Amino acid sequence: MNRPRGDITIRLLQPEDAGAMLSLCRASRAVFEKFQPAKADEYYTLAVQQEDIAKSLAEMNAGNEFSFGIFHGDTELVGRIRLSAVHRGLWQNANLGYFVGTAYQGQGFATEAVKLTAALAFGEIGLHRLQAAVMPWNPASLRVMEKTGFRREGLAERYLKINGTWNDHVLFAQTAEDLISDGTE
Ligand SMILES: CC(C)(COP(=O)(O)OP(=O)(O)OC[C@H]1O[C@@H](n2cnc3c(N)ncnc32)[C@H](O)[C@@H]1OP(=O)(O)O)[C@@H](O)C(=O)NCCC(=O)NCCS
Repeated sequence: MNRPRGDITIRLLQPEDAGAMLSLCRASRAVFEKFQPAKADEYYTLAVQQEDIAKSLAEMNAGNEFSFGIFHGDTELVGRIRLSAVHRGLWQNANLGYFVGTAYQGQGFATEAVKLTAALAFGEIGLHRLQAAVMPWNPASLRVMEKTGFRREGLAERYLKINGTWNDHVLFAQTAEDLISDGTE
């Protein structure tokens, strides 16, 4: 089931979102850790969630990242989408990463959040390129990339060390021209 676009919003995460983020991450921990680095138990505390959000805001002020909550309506936190390793100069690129809580998966939240984030990244934020790296055995994320029009650039062997193993990743990218030619912007 895909939700109508107006039902899904993104906004910068704030320290007061830490409680909702903690509940979401605790409930989804086992599934998230299949595809993302496992976190120590300490990560699943309010203090660390608050710290994580505060760090993201500081990184944003330094021009390095943007961390958005994905919301059902304006208030119910269902996931996170982040632009990290923002590089300006000749590259104007950022890495895109996302997750959606297990209770909310399969309803179009990630797909819509990627589209909203790309519009912001290529609009207000002024980037030219977004890239994402997805493990080949993560069908939901591969499908999100396909549905949002990201180009599959190829397989990067032993690209990231996830939970002790250097894992292959499929690299995807989109540039500002893709959104403009798509008429989405
Ligand atoms: C990947 C993830 C963000 C997708 O979030 P989501 O909100 O469920 O995504 P959407 O609902 O927008 O789209 C998911 C698509 O994948 C499909 N899908 C889900 N599981 C699938 C599977 N096992 N095989 C094939 N397709 C699958 C869904 O059917 C849907 O496609 P459709 O609209 O054509 O039916 C979510 O599963 C997640 O958080 N996973 C754990 C963390 C993670 O993997 N993050 C990404 C790291 S690169």
